[in-house]
Amino acid sequence: TLINIYPQISKGLESVKSIGDIMGNSHVEENNSIVPLGELKGAVKFVNVDFKYPDSDKNTLSDFTLDVKPGESIALVGESGAGKSTVLNLLIGFIPPVSGKILIDGINMVNLDINEYRHQIAVVPQNTILFSGTILDNIAYGLEHVTEKDVMEVIKDVGLEDMIEKLPDGIYTQLGEHGDKLSGGQRQRISIARALIRKPKIIVFDEATSALDSASEKKVQEATSNMMKNCTTFLVAHRLSTIRNADRIVAMRDGKIVEVGSYDELMEKKGYFYELKALQS
Ligand SMILES: Nc1ncnc2c1ncn2[C@@H]1O[C@H](COP(=O)(O)OP(=O)(O)O)[C@@H](O)[C@H]1O
Ligand SMILES: [Mg+2]
Repeated sequence: TLINIYPQISKGLESVKSIGDIMGNSHVEENNSIVPLGELKGAVKFVNVDFKYPDSDKNTLSDFTLDVKPGESIALVGESGAGKSTVLNLLIGFIPPVSGKILIDGINMVNLDINEYRHQIAVVPQNTILFSGTILDNIAYGLEHVTEKDVMEVIKDVGLEDMIEKLPDGIYTQLGEHGDKLSGGQRQRISIARALIRKPKIIVFDEATSALDSASEKKVQEATSNMMKNCTTFLVAHRLSTIRNADRIVAMRDGKIVEVGSYDELMEKKGYFYELKALQS
């Protein structure tokens, strides 16, 4: 049994390590002159941001500048290693820029109460972690005043109501560890419901749909397009067809922005994005 669960243990240790990195991150603690954020609107501005990992000899991001309006959806594309996740980690406040600044609703992130900020954003990761408990628990954990109606609303938003209706216990159905009764697409939609119920003003998807087949991905995409209307969205997706509906696509190469524009604009331009797209099909 131990041998069989070894891969899970080592994965768990990896997570413990990354959580440790975050908890031990001095940036989180050393905020000096904190400006109250209040209710987040969702404006994000990167101004000449450079970033370098301590053990790397060159910049991972160079002169990254992008002005995002509240409610806008931005897709980051580029080959593996281009710096997409790094941009998202800066946005979430996991890592600070080496130079340049990031403004959230006009407030420099170094002056932000990071906890207050993080409470108003949501991240949908690539591998959703579901725990043993009911579907309701899995969606609403940590929230104090959640009604059945709130939960049903987000379930509808992510298109899981048909599935829930078929279950004898509905949202009170027990899920096993890792949500074993659910398909990958269903798990991912639970994860999105979990994000939605928190009514975030900024939502971040880092390859959240890469592990899904195209049919499940399409369902997840429909679910996300609903909420993209109400909050600022940052999206990294492996399949370039997924990001078709983003307001703007930011094509990155070697930590630099190469092109910015809508899907149609960039396809018409026949530049770097067009090339990436051609490679994929
Ligand atoms: N924790 C880290 N330490 C050192 N280098 C890293 C770390 N994370 C990512 N990198 C490097 O930074 C570059 C950009 O990575 P990343 O932002 O993850 O790219 P993407 O998400 O576009 O694949 C890559 O060259 C990667 O190897
Ligand atoms: Mg990445």
